[in-house]
Amino acid sequence: MRRIFTSETVLKAGETVKVAGWIHARRDMGKVIFFDLRDKDGLLQIVAVPSDLGEEGYAVASSLRSEWVVEIEGVVQTRSAKQVNNKIITGTVELLAKNIKVLNEAKTPPFELDKDTFGIGEDSRMKYKYLDLRTERMAKNLRMRNSIFQYMRGFLDKEQFVEVETPMLTKGTPEGAREFMVPSRLHEGTFYVLPQSPQQFKQLLMVAGVERYYQMARCFRDEDQRGDRQPEFTQMDLEMSFVEQEDVMDVIERLLIETVETLYPNKKIQEKPFPRISYAEAMKKYGTDRPDIRADKNDPNLLAFCWVVDFPFFEKGGDGHWTFTHNPFSAPKPDQMQELLNKENIGEIITTQYDICLNGFEIGGGSIRNHRPEALKSVLEIIGHSEKQINDQFGHMLKAFEYGAPPHGGIAFGMDRIVAILQNEPNIREVIVFPKDGNARDHMMDAPSAMPSTALQDVHIKLDI
Ligand code: AMO
Repeated sequence: MRRIFTSETVLKAGETVKVAGWIHARRDMGKVIFFDLRDKDGLLQIVAVPSDLGEEGYAVASSLRSEWVVEIEGVVQTRSAKQVNNKIITGTVELLAKNIKVLNEAKTPPFELDKDTFGIGEDSRMKYKYLDLRTERMAKNLRMRNSIFQYMRGFLDKEQFVEVETPMLTKGTPEGAREFMVPSRLHEGTFYVLPQSPQQFKQLLMVAGVERYYQMARCFRDEDQRGDRQPEFTQMDLEMSFVEQEDVMDVIERLLIETVETLYPNKKIQEKPFPRISYAEAMKKYGTDRPDIRADKNDPNLLAFCWVVDFPFFEKGGDGHWTFTHNPFSAPKPDQMQELLNKENIGEIITTQYDICLNGFEIGGGSIRNHRPEALKSVLEIIGHSEKQINDQFGHMLKAFEYGAPPHGGIAFGMDRIVAILQNEPNIREVIVFPKDGNARDHMMDAPSAMPSTALQDVHIKLDI
């Protein structure tokens, strides 16, 4: 007999079926034993009685413990109105067991899996993440994350965007965050860098004529950790050619509104189109550039998106030198291009950067880019790069822009942050399948970890610790 999922049993009253999964909970009521069987869809009540299982089968049922893996054949019965359990999707039926096969036994888990694990120590949850993921909230987060990704992919596909995978082993660029390095074995003394975002590749794809690119992109940043930061995370990264600020913002608003309204019908978007707040106004009114503009901060279903625009392009760093506030590849407001090229009124230049915030979190940001090489060069000179540094780090971009780069712009948003907010989770670790802890450690795999000396020799590394 073909195994079916527990959710399918609701349409099979009176039929003999086979289900499989894990023993979730057990209740002994005299001779009758009730089990909750759990599979990917949820729970199904199993009824085990000696009259239907026979002596041997009943002995098997009696031996079952939490998290054992079983396969059960039985007859689907409709529950009486009084017995219906609206909390589970199979609550109108139960399975009268005729045959139980143990596929694998299980040790007692380090924490209870039929309860929420929010209060369990993070060490333990992370070390046994594969068990934590069996719990209802974690399984739901994982599946909703998938639904959001699939919905967004479908939307972007309809809008003629192409998903392109860009390299993970690449070259470092000063885009704001410290980077992870990967030593090269073949080229002694040199390193790849894991990308902090696909920024340069997506711009080069615009030069390549792709016009509409997106990627659910893994990004790596060696930063201090916070609730909304992980050393590796996922961006929905997008770039478009022949567009202005409004065109990118329009696609993103439609994408976010459609995704939320389709997948989260209970949620309410406070204001559409999303309000736009200038950086100066945000700082004055809210004291932050990621304002929480919710009318009711206690409403778990309220989503208040807003754009923050008109950021200064440059600010003075601690060392008194100019540095970029957001992205060195951004263009200034069109009427300030000449000032950028002339390196005049640097502190007054406004960037085309637009950040998008949701309930007080920065969920994304982007800009229109400098597609003319002299404009990018001017930014790099203002932030103090020498001719040699510019050529070493950005020579490939400047060269590409000499071959007919179209005007272009884009955005990226943090998918982990969006999923966490939509799922009402306080921390992105709750929606990342195998997250790192606050010290960037992976407790389950034990990473980072020491390497054997031969492996270090292979990549020409001598430790100095
Ligand atoms: P930015 O650096 O603003 O822009 O990143 C875009 C979004 O990515 C998310 N994010 C993070 N999420 C989890 N953990 C982190 N460590 C982390 N760092 C960033 C945030 C952020 O808004 N290349 C540009 C985008 C562009 O201009 O197109 C970029 O990466 O939600």
